[in-house]
Amino acid sequence: MDFKASLSEKSKYIEEKIRIFAPKEEGYQKSVIEAMNYSLMAGGKRLRPILIMETYRLCGGKDDRFLPYSIAIEMIHTYSLVHDDLPALDNDDLRRGKPTNHKVYGEAMAILAGDALLNHAFQIMLEGSLKYDKPENSLRAAYEISKGAGIYGMIGGQVVDVESENKKIDKDKLDFIHLNKTAAMIVGSIRSGAILADSSEEKLEALSNYANNIGLAFQIIDDILDIEGDEKILGKHIGSDIDNEKSTYPSIIGMEESKKIAKKLIENAKSELEIFGENAEFLTNLADYIIARDK
Ligand code: IPE
Ligand code: IPE
Ligand code: MG
Ligand code: MG
Ligand code: MG
Repeated sequence: MDFKASLSEKSKYIEEKIRIFAPKEEGYQKSVIEAMNYSLMAGGKRLRPILIMETYRLCGGKDDRFLPYSIAIEMIHTYSLVHDDLPALDNDDLRRGKPTNHKVYGEAMAILAGDALLNHAFQIMLEGSLKYDKPENSLRAAYEISKGAGIYGMIGGQVVDVESENKKIDKDKLDFIHLNKTAAMIVGSIRSGAILADSSEEKLEALSNYANNIGLAFQIIDDILDIEGDEKILGKHIGSDIDNEKSTYPSIIGMEESKKIAKKLIENAKSELEIFGENAEFLTNLADYIIARDK
């Protein structure tokens, strides 16, 4: 099977499972659950859940132990998008090809739906945590995800992103933003998948380096697509970064240099996979896809 077909098959698989894990739209709190599910089921590439599944398999995991973590990371990622689009942050009105959460449900409900997605993610992870052998691996995996999402990860990056609007920042600070707001959740996904499969320290280290490299490249390409992308394919409006005077790779480093750096990061990422030999074919192709993607 070629890579595109295999990626789309994996994303369909995750899509089905998200539907099963999604909370039921009932009870007095029904409206917030509808808002949660609206953004959760709006589509999206499902990259982070796929990364958990693939690293779990690559490190020898055979069963479905990874699944609650895959669903949880997508809930946390979706919450980060709902809040990122709010008027107080990026003020965007299109996401995953649909009106943003606050445009449909209002700001109050969008804030609560984001909070609820974050908390529900932990409920799902912890429910599944103690059922398997070596429950300490489940707890370590949950730790990696919480770290990737918090002040030493995604939130940390979002804070500096917001504080760096209409400022000239240096490359170190720009890398801090990108490594935290985006790479950290990718690192958390990959490390948790490996840990759940009881990976060796050597493999975990190589996978973490792979994750940091693809994570940084992923956000550089996101910045480039915000200028050169096609809104219909992307499912979000372009020009958002310029409107918000964001500090991005193209604005600080320049377009051509940004593309060169992204390419180099992908080469570095792929070289980290050498210890896995042919088994790492999917992750190798995924690294290439990250710079070739148009959405
Ligand atoms: C968008 O993430 C936000 C970033 C961290 C760059 P994705 O490009 O993975 O968005 P979806 O999940 O496919 O919608
Ligand atoms: C956001 O970066 C990263 C998040 C943690 C949500 P962007 O603000 O560039 O993401 P998009 O372009 O809105 O998806
Ligand atoms: Mg943003
Ligand atoms: Mg944004
Ligand atoms: Mg962007």
